Amino acid sequence: MNLILMGLPGAGKGTQAEKINERYNIPHISTGDMFRLAIKEGTELGQKAKEYMDQGELVPDDVTIGIVKERLEKDDCNDGFLLDGFPRTIAQAEGLESLLSDMEESIDYVLHVKVPEENLVERLTGRRICPECGTTYHVIYNPPEQEGICDKDGAELVQREDDQAETVKNRLKVNMEQAQPLLDYYDEKGYLVTINGDQEIDQVFRDIQAAIEKQ
Ligand code: AP5
Ligand code: MG
Ligand code: ZN
Repeated sequence: MNLILMGLPGAGKGTQAEKINERYNIPHISTGDMFRLAIKEGTELGQKAKEYMDQGELVPDDVTIGIVKERLEKDDCNDGFLLDGFPRTIAQAEGLESLLSDMEESIDYVLHVKVPEENLVERLTGRRICPECGTTYHVIYNPPEQEGICDKDGAELVQREDDQAETVKNRLKVNMEQAQPLLDYYDEKGYLVTINGDQEIDQVFRDIQAAIEKQ
């Protein structure tokens, strides 16, 4: 199964991707996570990506398409993949289409997790992540058992650098400009499924399951 998760910042892509990965065992490919890892490791890619991410801007298409290409070529993608946060521009969607056609693969579903814009700032500023295992929490909507501590490994939770209020505003603006043309692009191709992301986390996941298991 080849899936794409789309949605504005804070819509719940990463949260649902963790669940899809657990249930269906397909690799979760998040361009945001790959850039954050590169920043942590101090690579050239990381240095380049950081300039854009700190401002809430998009990393240039050629760089982003390049890392996705490398990732999709890995063996674990042979039986499917789950893209989270890619593509984000029409150029990236076209880049992906040409990569997939070279691989003789195609997309099954584009799942658009849709959440009213006015909820997103609160979701982003309340997010906490585990620096060790990457699990995502929310101080109100998805709190850990013990405040500030990861349930899985006891690490101290942190805030993502781009979740500061000022950066959040620009991320939402930049992503909103790109979103509609891309949704139209996938709708025309017949891949698009809209999922109501303004529900409890487990209900969103049940709706995703219903959509992808429907024959
Ligand atoms: P990326 O890491 O992809 O960030 P994003 O798109 O801004 O999305 P987020 O990860 O912030 O949100 P999410 O939808 O995953 O929500 P989550 O599940 O965490 O990209 C970061 C940056 O990298 C970009 O700004 C750009 O610079 C660069 N980049 C990445 N991809 C790129 C590309 N293709 N092209 C160019 N540049 C790229 O949930 C959010 C919070 O809400 C959490 O606290 C969670 O617990 C909570 N929550 C989740 N679901 C629910 C629910 N149903 N109800 C209540 N709370 C919920
Ligand atoms: Mg995410
Ligand atoms: Zn952890």
